[in-house]
Amino acid sequence: MGSGTGGGAARPGRAGLDAIETASRDEIAALQTERLRWTLRRAYERVPHYRAAFDAAGVHPDDFRRLEDLARFPFLTKADFRATYPFGLFAEPRERIVRLHASSGTTGRPTVVGYTQGDIDVWAGLVARSIHAAGGRPGMRVHVAYGYGLFTGGLGAHYGAERLGCTVIPVSGGQTERQVQLIRDFAPEIIMVTPSYMLALLDAFRAAGCDPRASGLQVGIFGAEPWTEAMRTEIETEFGMDAVDIYGLSEVMGPGVSMECRETKDGLHVWEDHFYPEIIDPQTGAVLPDGAAGELVFTSLTKEALPIVRYRTRDLTRLLPGTARSMRRMQKITGRSDDMLIVRGVNLFPTQVEELVLADPRLSGHYQIVLTREGRLDSLTVRVEAREAAGPADAAASASGAALALAMKERLGLSASVVIEPPGGIERSQGKARRVVDLRSAEGAAVGAAVGEAVGEAVDLGRSA
Ligand code: DLL
Repeated sequence: MGSGTGGGAARPGRAGLDAIETASRDEIAALQTERLRWTLRRAYERVPHYRAAFDAAGVHPDDFRRLEDLARFPFLTKADFRATYPFGLFAEPRERIVRLHASSGTTGRPTVVGYTQGDIDVWAGLVARSIHAAGGRPGMRVHVAYGYGLFTGGLGAHYGAERLGCTVIPVSGGQTERQVQLIRDFAPEIIMVTPSYMLALLDAFRAAGCDPRASGLQVGIFGAEPWTEAMRTEIETEFGMDAVDIYGLSEVMGPGVSMECRETKDGLHVWEDHFYPEIIDPQTGAVLPDGAAGELVFTSLTKEALPIVRYRTRDLTRLLPGTARSMRRMQKITGRSDDMLIVRGVNLFPTQVEELVLADPRLSGHYQIVLTREGRLDSLTVRVEAREAAGPADAAASASGAALALAMKERLGLSASVVIEPPGGIERSQGKARRVVDLRSAEGAAVGAAVGEAVGEAVDLGRSA
């Protein structure tokens, strides 16, 4: 079952697409039903955790007859990965596992995932399909600046680009000036990188006195963290390129679970021949209809080493009908439920701040949200870099700080302090950006002490609302 469509050997469909990408909804549903039956049975027979969880919920794989029946099966959570660390969820003997990846997470044990050769083949096929959807074609050069290693980004992108027949430039993250040099020398058409690190590359282009629009880059394939339409506009304008969104998570596979098409840029088509998506109410667990916002849940349809049944991703989005492909789309992710901040009773996602920050041409997309506690009250500070170098007491800086604080108050209902930092004032990550520094807990206080000092010093500048 591991190979098949998306495994690269699929029947060619319209203009180089896999046939399933334009299949009818009935065909897709029939394939999903058959593959779900296979996955549920296999999980039950081979993985003690699933057997115990299904038994406890009073369901058996034979109870699954149609797609709606999936809702009767229990969820899988991050805690289940921790409880079965490291290999307890694997459905194949260890000798058949050809690769391990792991995601570090913020606390506790990492989440370990494994792949058979068949899984690696499917993954490469789906990333190849994703790069194709982004406009990639055989022979193009692909600069991969996602980290290589236990993180799935680098190697996932790498195998997919190779599978499509591209020339891969496996740079990984870091050494930003060198990245700029390599882009100038090797002239890749495509770059795959986190959107926040793309902004760091943008700065490095400017610092080197190079015009980013002369880089020759045509498409950026950005993911691994939430990013907004405002960020898309920023990157597209500055580089003169198309920016498209790629989504995935290690528990489900890695990058390439869903992908935005270059021609429509209207959300990400879930590769539904390999992953069955549901949206649930995060509070009750009830399945919500397409179009409703909630938490994304995935069941794998073809995975061998690590079958995933109803994994709660914590990512918030909604499912929409297909457009450029028949497979359903998921709307750009707003954020993770764990990233939602509740500040004095108001819910806030970092992406909402990003939209407001980038609406001001004086501000760059480098920002960070810092939470502190003053007495019993939570207090929120947005640190954001000015585009142009200027002293923090500069009039333009305090004007944009005041404007951002006002926008936060009016649009998000939140009083916030704003600190305008000089260019380079906010730490750069080489992968996923750290958007939130929570100093309210003792642990966070230790981690963020340096940042806290910086905020403490500057907190009155540009403060308002
Ligand atoms: O981030 C896999 C990946 C690598 C995806 C490269 C895209 C590109 P993890 O480290 O396991 O895997 O983190 C998965 O990252 O649950 C989301 O919260 C977030 N995420 C991934 N892609 C996007 C995206 C990789 N396009 C977690 N938009 C997921 C928003 C994303 N969030």
